[in-house]
Amino acid sequence: MTDTTTAPATATAPQSEQATAAASGAAATERFRSKRPSTEATNADTRRVDTVVTEVLAAVHDVIRRHRVTYAEYDALKSWLIQVGQDGEWPLFLDVWVEHVVEAVANEDRRGSKGTIEGPYYVPGSPSFNGSATLPMRADEPGTPLLFQGMVTSVDGTPLPGARIEIWHADADGFYSQFAPGLPEWNLRGTVVADELGGFAISTVEPAPYQIPTDGSCGRLIAAAGWHAWRPAHLHLKVSAPGHQLITTQLYFRGTSHVADDIASAVKPELILAPVASGDGEGREVTYDFVLDRI
Ligand code: DHB
Ligand code: FE
Repeated sequence: MTDTTTAPATATAPQSEQATAAASGAAATERFRSKRPSTEATNADTRRVDTVVTEVLAAVHDVIRRHRVTYAEYDALKSWLIQVGQDGEWPLFLDVWVEHVVEAVANEDRRGSKGTIEGPYYVPGSPSFNGSATLPMRADEPGTPLLFQGMVTSVDGTPLPGARIEIWHADADGFYSQFAPGLPEWNLRGTVVADELGGFAISTVEPAPYQIPTDGSCGRLIAAAGWHAWRPAHLHLKVSAPGHQLITTQLYFRGTSHVADDIASAVKPELILAPVASGDGEGREVTYDFVLDRI
C-alpha cells in the first residue's frame, strides 16, 4: 500500500513507467478495506440475500444457455476471476462496470444536484481551506490552470455557509496522488469550506482523461472485448452541509475526449462544464452551483 505518511512534499519522479495496475489496484483495495465496515457487520436479511443472489444466478444461467457458453470459456472465466482478486482490481472492476447503477438507484429521488459514481480513489481528510483555495500541487504542476467557483444552496435556494466541498482529481498525466507513485501525498486534493454567502473558489489545473490500468485483469477484459479503457477528464466532489444529504459527484469538460463514451458510464448532461478563458488569459474558469437536498 502507498505509504501516505512519508510521501515527500515535492516528489517529482516521473510516474509513467512506474504506475502499474498492480500498484493502483492494490492501493485501491487497501483503501476500500480501511474505510468500509466489514461485510460481517452488515445486517443481512436472509430473504433479501436469497432473492438477490437467486436472481443474479438466474441471469448468469440464462446467458450461458442463450450463448451456449463452453467449458473452455467457463474455465477462462474462473481463472480471470481469480486473477482480478490477485491483482487487487475488484474495486476498479466494480466502480467502472457496476457502481453507476447503484448510484442511479440510490439518488433517484433527489431534487438537487445530480450525483454520480465515487470511484476507487477518494481519500478522506484532505487539507482544509476557508472560502477560496489553491489545491496542493507541485511547484511545476503541469496542466491548464482552472478556476472552479460557485455557491452551495439548499433546494429552496437558501445559501449554505460552511458547506464542505471535498475535491480530488487526476493530474495532467491522468494520475491520482496516493495511488500512483511519485506524487506528493495530497496533490490535487482539498476540502474547501464555503464562505458566509455559501460561496467557494478553487484554483487547480485541468485534469487529463483517465485510462483505467491496462496491464491488469480489467485491462485484459477490455482488450479481449475490444473496448477502450478511457474515462473523460473529470473532477471528483463530495459536497455536504448540516441538515442536508451529502452528494458525491463528478464534473466533466465539454468537448474533451470520451465525454460521450465513458467506460464507467458515469457522465450525465447536467455534469458537463463549459469553462471559458480567464480574464487574465492564464487559464480557464467556470462556475457551477451545488444544490443539496434536505435530510
Ligand atoms: C476508476 C477510476 C476513476 O478515476 C473513476 O473516477 C472511476 C473508476 C477505476 O479505475 O475503476
Ligand atoms: Fe476518477
